[in-house]
Amino acid sequence: MCNQTNCLWIRSRAWLTIITKILLLLAVGQTSPTMAAVVRRQLAFISRISSRQCSRCFYSSLAAPQSQKQQDEITLLDQSYRTDEWTNISNPIIDTLSRKLHLQPSHPVGILRKIIEARFPENQYTRYSELPPVVTTQQNFDSLGIPADHPGRSRTDTYYVNANTVLRTHTSAHQAETFRSCPTPGFLISADVYRRDSIDKSHYPSFHQMEGAMLWNWDKDTAQTVENDIAKLPKVDLVVEDVPAFHDQNPKQQGHTDEESIAMSNHLKRTLEGVVEEIFGRARLAAGNISDEKLRVRWIDAYFPFTSPSYELEVFWEGQWLELLGCGVVAQSVLENAGSSFASSMLTIGVRNKVGWAFGIGLDRLAMVLFGVPDIRLFWSRDERFLKQFSPGKVSQFKPFSKYPDCYKDVAFWVNDSKISAAGGGQVSTFHENDIMELFREEGGDLIEDVRLVSPSDHI
Ligand code: PHE
Repeated sequence: MCNQTNCLWIRSRAWLTIITKILLLLAVGQTSPTMAAVVRRQLAFISRISSRQCSRCFYSSLAAPQSQKQQDEITLLDQSYRTDEWTNISNPIIDTLSRKLHLQPSHPVGILRKIIEARFPENQYTRYSELPPVVTTQQNFDSLGIPADHPGRSRTDTYYVNANTVLRTHTSAHQAETFRSCPTPGFLISADVYRRDSIDKSHYPSFHQMEGAMLWNWDKDTAQTVENDIAKLPKVDLVVEDVPAFHDQNPKQQGHTDEESIAMSNHLKRTLEGVVEEIFGRARLAAGNISDEKLRVRWIDAYFPFTSPSYELEVFWEGQWLELLGCGVVAQSVLENAGSSFASSMLTIGVRNKVGWAFGIGLDRLAMVLFGVPDIRLFWSRDERFLKQFSPGKVSQFKPFSKYPDCYKDVAFWVNDSKISAAGGGQVSTFHENDIMELFREEGGDLIEDVRLVSPSDHI
């Protein structure tokens, strides 16, 4: 027997009339490529029996890996990119690049985008919603001061096109260029973003974010100007648990006066409280909740390399605190460096004499809550029975549509824990838990419902 220490448990789902349950236990102590081959064979097998609707199957095989065609180019959205040892993009991810769910007016993600945008006056906030997802590591990380050893930069967490090019992991990747080119003081960027992650009903490697930002001229009157702008914001009626604008562990920036930092934080917080009131007010209506109990939100100190002070916002919804967004006062270094990647022209480098705030909000999980969608993968469905349920501008409750019960197929693999690591680190050679997730996703697609690493004591 091999040195078994961890077990990966996979649940896949198919709509079948006959309920089938399979439990496969495989002892795998070989190297990662062999394990990859085994996983591929098993998942191909599941897909086959799903389509044949057979009722009882047993299978065990340690087949040799299929020979993989070496590619030195990859085509993404009609553009070719050179590949190298950093390339880790799989076909299912490539398929999602062109979907742009946030642009579909009758899709929950698109409806939510519009609801949020409507809170921001168009003459103050320019909208950007079609920025391409392939960006440089400079845009995604360096322009934001994200250090070279940050776990988010590792190959296990980020989709690399090649060593210098990634699928953006957040909409903040466009902050610098947009600060430089935006014609209004503020902007909103909505976009698809990509992160390698675990597989379950609330994680999908492609999802959507909206970035918002606002800048003011930085001079002796800034604090007063921002205060005047706060007075013009629509009034909100929430119960708010707040934190101080800044303190030692969540400091204001050198160069900002106390008044400037406090005023910008307050403008940011009051703006976002308005967004939350709007979204959850609609959700309450959709759920037929007419209680006059006020909505509760709370601010929490946070850390981002590109804002200081930084915060997260949570809302109390259906008995629990729900994390909504990250935000803060924009780091002056981000503004100073904005545009430095275009420095070869030597024309404009940096955004000078400006200060402001930025936020980033995830759209998909919020849309799940608002529309009562139980599984994030439903958003990617092309089934009319899903898509026809929603209409522009309206928050409505999702109604399950399959006339068949779920059919679960469980598969378990033993994996040798000397070959698997849960931590990031960016080494090309380590076989990470997310590499296995990627393998399952590539072979099993959205049929796979859940993959879990369990210890031997958690007998399956
Ligand atoms: N980009 C951050 C994330 O994805 C969110 C964020 C945006 C935080 C802007 C601060 C400012 O988590």
